[in-house]
Amino acid sequence: MKILILNGPNLNLLGNREPDVYGYKNFDDYFGQLQFSLKDVELSHCQTNSEGEIIDRLQEADKDFDGIVLNAAAYTHTSIAIADAVKAIKTPVVEVHISNTYAREDFRQKSFFAPHTKGVIIGFGLQSYELAIRSFITK
Ligand code: DQA
Repeated sequence: MKILILNGPNLNLLGNREPDVYGYKNFDDYFGQLQFSLKDVELSHCQTNSEGEIIDRLQEADKDFDGIVLNAAAYTHTSIAIADAVKAIKTPVVEVHISNTYAREDFRQKSFFAPHTKGVIIGFGLQSYELAIRSFITK
């Protein structure tokens, strides 16, 4: 099974960025851990700060992956273009957030993607990614 983790803006700063909200671990270290604990899954990871690149990656992944774990960060709350891409592709997408967006500002409580996803996992720290990946494995 091939899964793409697609991370959006500012998630390259994990470990340094607001550690009280997002934790102290950087994503590369966490990704290594994930690959170790999910040996039967072929994982790929991509991070971009650009909205258009998220759309390009979603469209490309539609050919090559069985599932996509998407944390589009702040674009979740603003981007109809990414929502259209999630809707357009056939590969199932699970939306993920590290922080509990429902316990934060009002503007973080709207996701334009959620209605077009397989499901949404919010607020379990970096473990949200593992839970999302496992949702593709467990029938
Ligand atoms: C986030 C939540 C978003 O509201 C925020 O803009 C992010 C990260 C999360 O993973 O908790 O950058 O997607």
